Amino acid sequence: MLITFEGIDGCGKSTQIEMLNDYLNQKGVRFSVFREPGGTDISEKVRSLLLHETDEMDPVTELLLFSAARSQLIREKVIPLLEHNEIVILDRFYDSTTAYQGFGRNSSSLAEIQTLNKLASHNTVPDITFYLRIDPEVAKKRTEGTGKDRLESAGDEFFKKVATGYDMLASSDSRFRILDATQSPEEIHKQVIQIIGESQQ
Ligand code: TYD
Repeated sequence: MLITFEGIDGCGKSTQIEMLNDYLNQKGVRFSVFREPGGTDISEKVRSLLLHETDEMDPVTELLLFSAARSQLIREKVIPLLEHNEIVILDRFYDSTTAYQGFGRNSSSLAEIQTLNKLASHNTVPDITFYLRIDPEVAKKRTEGTGKDRLESAGDEFFKKVATGYDMLASSDSRFRILDATQSPEEIHKQVIQIIGESQQ
């Protein structure tokens, strides 16, 4: 079972993944968590190129590097785990590419990005995608004062477009579960567990 978490920076995704991690550990469930970009040696190297380089990066280069990191993670780690019927949790997946590179940066047409997403994910589709929905203004306040990487430093307009992209994606596919990210972490966590539980019945 593949579960992905999505949302703009500051939505509280990492907190939720940690809470789910603790919960599943307590239950003795076998599962793995990976972050995107990252999760393998190659993908972590690509991550550092993407997030820490200060040089101007061409938007298509950015799109292809996120996709390259994904391809390696999915082929090397995720597919073998799914084949053994394990639960895999991804901190971001190709919906991030559609929202950030597609809607945010207009790096390429949405049709081209969809094709690339299919290729880079080796046709792997999440069973559940939790979208932690939050207004970009509210999210911005949450991330104020924290160290920002290259993408997090992009302007307000960029994040508005990314948020619109997520809203459109989430309304177009039933694998999305939209969670109000302004609720308390405990409240959101309860909903996450309930949804996962229901999907396994
Ligand atoms: P994330 O790991 O959520 O950030 P943090 O380490 O600060 O919690 O994501 C890293 C950044 O990469 C985030 O700003 C979103 C961006 N991103 C894309 O633009 N496209 C993608 O395909 C992915 C996976 C991430």
